[in-house]
Amino acid sequence: MKFFIDTANLAQIEEAQKLGILDGVTTNPSLMAKEGIVGKETVLNHYKAICDIVDGDVSAEVIAVDFDGMVKEGEELASLHPQIVVKIPMIKEGLKAIKYFSEKNIKTNCTLIFSAGQALLAAKAGATYISPFIGRLDDISSSGMHLINEIKEIYNHYKFDTQILAASVRHTMHIIECAKLGVDVMTGPLSAITGLLKHPLTDSGLKTFLEDHKKSNAGN
Ligand code: E4P
Repeated sequence: MKFFIDTANLAQIEEAQKLGILDGVTTNPSLMAKEGIVGKETVLNHYKAICDIVDGDVSAEVIAVDFDGMVKEGEELASLHPQIVVKIPMIKEGLKAIKYFSEKNIKTNCTLIFSAGQALLAAKAGATYISPFIGRLDDISSSGMHLINEIKEIYNHYKFDTQILAASVRHTMHIIECAKLGVDVMTGPLSAITGLLKHPLTDSGLKTFLEDHKKSNAGN
């Protein structure tokens, strides 16, 4: 499973990259705003800065909601850097834009997927990735993992090339459940990724090893 980090924070992206397990980055307009990245030039430069840190795909979301606007914005984003993936919302105009970009071999990430039907449409339009938001479904007492299961079942029948990018991942168990289902990619915050490292028996075991080493080497 590929690991993407879901943030526009350069320090966190660098930290995840240094772990050696990072495969890409996803951003969205809210994450950019959270980092204070405003104004067209600043936003475009920020995407370039992210691409300079990581080796893999970097999702950059369009703001336009009409076909012509999405195409114009998406082409500009795609021309910034070969790692840029144009992130497009799952709306009617977005579907048309995904088809347009897939015919031009420009990578897309169809975002805000909340149903199997939406995932099916995006795959038929040729999306490179689809982003089902599992945490936001859990937030409203629906099951994010159930949706992932449904999408996997459908995609397996038809051998779509579209990759399932589990988004809105909030914690370590989301990541583990995704891996158990064979999800292609997950995107989550740094805290969820580094949370996978932790186990109290690892910490207590290491403490004992180091204490025993110190005792047996005392005086040497
Ligand atoms: C996905 O690409 C989105 O940026 C993201 O995962 C949304 O997560 P949230 O529901 O925690 O805001």
